[in-house]
Amino acid sequence: MKVKIIPLDRQDRKHRRQAAELLLENPELWPAMEIARAVISTLLAPNRVCLCALDEKDRLVGIVGGLPDYDGIVWELHPLVVKKVDRGHGIGRRLVRSLEKEAAARGAITVILGTDDLDGSTSLADVDLYDNLGGRIANIVCRKQHSYEFYIKCGYSIIGVIPDANGIGKPDILMGKRVAKKQIGRKTPLKSLPGGKTE
Ligand SMILES: CC(C)(COP(=O)(O)OP(=O)(O)OC[C@H]1O[C@@H](n2cnc3c(N)ncnc32)[C@H](O)[C@@H]1OP(=O)(O)O)[C@@H](O)C(=O)NCCC(=O)NCCS
Repeated sequence: MKVKIIPLDRQDRKHRRQAAELLLENPELWPAMEIARAVISTLLAPNRVCLCALDEKDRLVGIVGGLPDYDGIVWELHPLVVKKVDRGHGIGRRLVRSLEKEAAARGAITVILGTDDLDGSTSLADVDLYDNLGGRIANIVCRKQHSYEFYIKCGYSIIGVIPDANGIGKPDILMGKRVAKKQIGRKTPLKSLPGGKTE
């Protein structure tokens, strides 16, 4: 499926309407048109990034937002939605990649996101996350389809969990990825110590 990914134009009323309608396809997250419209307006604030995927007929089929934090070093990816009928064609992955490129171009080192487990889709739900959290993250099991698997495929790692973020036993799974091209390393060379050891 051929799509192009471009910034959502705040002056383009058709695409803005289609973006709000796209959010409305997920009423568990955006239950009303006025909420969806308000979210789109927020995404178009000057310090944010809002990219959309347009199909060959200029229909908006996907959207991704990004918000800077930590002085722009870390960007949060939110939201990410692809039109239901157009899922499974790589649009989600391309939107994530485009957002990463845009964030990196603006100085980001890291992109983070949260993906909720509301219905026990993963082994991080309905357990005591204050007990052996590291082990639970390392041994996560996906019981039903969950979007954390999508983000793993996009190169993200689980970097933490907010326990009970959506009620008891319903955590938010935090994920992150380094998007800066340069590796982070020591700026000064290591000092040699007697015996060939380094500091
Ligand atoms: C998650 C979402 C954006 C994926 O979009 P998409 O265009 O269907 O994804 P892609 O086609 O790029 O998929 C890339 C890979 O991830 C997999 N994948 C896609 N959605 C997935 C999901 N929900 N769970 C697990 N794996 C998923 C695909 O099978 C594909 O795997 P492959 O490369 O092995 O074939 C889309 O399902 C969506 O809009 N969901 C509703 C909103 C949502 O959950 N957003 C994320 C919440 S934080």
